Amino acid sequence: MDGELPGDRPCGRSATIEKYTAFAPLYDLLSAEYPVYGAGRERLVELLGFRTGDQVLDIGCGTGMNFPLVQDRVGPGGIIVGVDRSAQMLAQARRRAVRHGWENVILIQADATAFSAEQISVEVTRDGGRPFSEVTLATYALSLMQQWENAWETMQQLTVTRGRLGVLDMQRPTGPSALLTPLARTACWLGGADIDAHPWKALERDSADVRSASARGGHLQVRVGSKPR
Ligand SMILES: C[S@@+](CC[C@H](N)C(=O)[O-])C[C@H]1O[C@@H](n2cnc3c(N)ncnc32)[C@H](O)[C@@H]1O
Repeated sequence: MDGELPGDRPCGRSATIEKYTAFAPLYDLLSAEYPVYGAGRERLVELLGFRTGDQVLDIGCGTGMNFPLVQDRVGPGGIIVGVDRSAQMLAQARRRAVRHGWENVILIQADATAFSAEQISVEVTRDGGRPFSEVTLATYALSLMQQWENAWETMQQLTVTRGRLGVLDMQRPTGPSALLTPLARTACWLGGADIDAHPWKALERDSADVRSASARGGHLQVRVGSKPR
């Protein structure tokens, strides 16, 4: 039985047919976190420079694999708002939060390409819809969304001026690692991601103070920036 969090709030369109529905309980096990994808997550979190007490928005949060790294940095005085359209992935995120005794996690079921930023903001802040997030991130999520530009727009709207934004996503490996392209393509195909979407380009275009990192032969691309005035 799922543990309930005080912050759980249903919002937006309910999930339709979900690629992640059936595999949600196995996601952490099958996601190749330790050999491959955790490396990008760690780089992103380092570059984002979290501060104690930060309010954080994680778009396409899935099972909450970012949450432990974020919790370590923001502490119990911070807040993590996780948005995902899959109820099953959110159920796993909720289990994680309950298991760790985190009471500062708010989970919202919504389609990140279609929800209204104001609606999410009202849900979180209860005071009329203003940007609330000091750090907004999307990890291995935007490339799954056909209209990821909409999600990126909303990420920016929900971020305070000078707040930090981060995108971690995948591309074809480069250099000698290009030999591994078939493997990378298969991994993206299995996960429903478009390996050629390159959503971090929107962050490069729209943000100030952009910093970059990559890992695993260029397969993992990290971009961090701040929301300009
Ligand atoms: C590959 S998983 C990544 C999960 C997590 N961010 C991580 O780093 O492990 C992609 C997640 O994006 C979610 N997702 C896909 N399209 C979405 C959308 N339009 N709105 C919200 N979440 C979406 C999926 O349900 C899934 O949980």
